[in-house]
Amino acid sequence: MRIAFFLAVVASFGVTLADEIYLGFNSGSTTDSKTAKKQADFEREFEAAQKLKNSPGLFNSIRLYTNIQAETEDTPIEAFPAAIKTNTKLLLGIWCSGTTSIEKELKALTKAVDQYGKNFTDLVVGISVGSEDMYRVSASGVKNKAGLGQNAKTIIGFIKDVRESIKDTTLRRTPVGHVDTWTAWVNESNKDVIDEVDFLGTNLFPYYEDDKGNAISNATSVFEFALNSTEKVAGNKQVWVTETGWPTSGPDFGQAKATLDNAKTYWNDIGCTLFGRKNVWWYVLRDSNPDNKAKFAITNDLSTTPQFNLTCPANSGAPSSINNNTTSAGSSSSVSMMSTIIVALSMTFALAAWVA
Ligand SMILES: *[C@@H]1O[C@H](CO)[C@@H](O)[C@H](O)[C@H]1NC(C)=O
Ligand SMILES: *[C@@H]1O[C@H](CO)[C@@H](O)[C@H](O)[C@H]1NC(C)=O
Ligand SMILES: *[C@@H]1O[C@H](CO)[C@@H](O)[C@H](O)[C@H]1NC(C)=O
Ligand SMILES: *[C@@H]1O[C@H](CO)[C@@H](O)[C@H](O)[C@H]1NC(C)=O
Ligand SMILES: *[C@@H]1O[C@H](CO)[C@@H](O)[C@H](O)[C@H]1NC(C)=O
Ligand SMILES: *[C@@H]1O[C@H](CO)[C@@H](O)[C@H](O)[C@H]1NC(C)=O
Ligand SMILES: *[C@@H]1O[C@H](CO)[C@@H](O)[C@H](O)[C@H]1NC(C)=O
Repeated sequence: MRIAFFLAVVASFGVTLADEIYLGFNSGSTTDSKTAKKQADFEREFEAAQKLKNSPGLFNSIRLYTNIQAETEDTPIEAFPAAIKTNTKLLLGIWCSGTTSIEKELKALTKAVDQYGKNFTDLVVGISVGSEDMYRVSASGVKNKAGLGQNAKTIIGFIKDVRESIKDTTLRRTPVGHVDTWTAWVNESNKDVIDEVDFLGTNLFPYYEDDKGNAISNATSVFEFALNSTEKVAGNKQVWVTETGWPTSGPDFGQAKATLDNAKTYWNDIGCTLFGRKNVWWYVLRDSNPDNKAKFAITNDLSTTPQFNLTCPANSGAPSSINNNTTSAGSSSSVSMMSTIIVALSMTFALAAWVA
């Protein structure tokens, strides 16, 4: 009986945790000239992401900021049919700032579930309730005129609204989380949000850390410090890197310089050590914030020839073709490593239960 229990524990852990690791980009609902993206725009974008020359892996996931099509009240964003057409996984976003209710976001989501069914819901890997809302209401967000945000209590309320809204749909097992800066996650005032989420999404930009020695040569230290700090407060919750990148052009920021060379260095030093190991949504394939003078797009006008060579250095330890089953060397080795960890973990659990 104890053996049976042991096997059951191993099996159940294996099934729930041996998931693929997501590799993708962020995608705003409008272009860098503030025009609404239509289905064709999203399709072109998602296709380009999957066909980048010299890519170290298959970028087949997209993080969105809203469920609502730009310039509409509560129509589902046209990124959804584009994702279905291009077999792109989605980290959904619920826009939470400047509002007292997320009813319209939930209405758009419900409509999409009704309209597209499992073709849509099978692609959804998570739902982020908000993006940097708690940073924007913090002292530094206010100082940087970051715009309207929300406090922890409101975000928690919205997370509960989302769980309630999906509980009887095929999205009911979807991880629900929140995205914020590492400074917001480590802020004691926001601790209760960590208890509420299934995952912590964190946006990490050494470029903006002008009080940390943010020359590109120190980017790895600054990045690791911020990620480690987030992981420390996350406890047993997963930390997903929901935005990271380095601008190819734009103003200096502290010691940080926005250049093509630095963007490539950042890709090599940070990206190549994360891809295939952690869930990452890179910032970005295509810019969508005209107010930001720093430009992060790794390619011009969705060309599949990026502005710099995306190949990872041999010594980064990146698998040869991340997240691409058909070539499988990369993904199968990372999966089997995951499985090994999972089995080891499960054995520990089972043994503990057996001893008890
Ligand atoms: C994925 O695998 C296919 C088939 O081997 C290959 O043609 C393609 O270039 C790979 N894509 C990436 C991004 O690794
Ligand atoms: C789902 O996709 C299949 C295959 O493309 C299609 O036949 C079906 O109509 C789609 N279902 C919905 C609800 O859109
Ligand atoms: C921590 O969060 C509180 C509440 O939002 C905010 O007032 C404060 O400025 C934050 N602290 C820092 C260091 O960001
Ligand atoms: C590099 O970054 C670390 C972590 O943020 C910081 O403690 C250190 O002072 C920085 N080093 C330099 C030379 O700026
Ligand atoms: C962050 O954590 C990793 C893994 O535990 C460690 O190797 C690295 O030195 C840490 N970096 C910083 C800057 O704390
Ligand atoms: C990109 O870099 C790799 C590794 O250094 C090299 O093999 C490849 O030829 C480069 N591709 C281009 C288009 O420069
Ligand atoms: C790779 O294969 C696994 C197992 O068949 C599947 O769950 C996963 O979705 C596939 N990943 C991609 C990127 O197609």
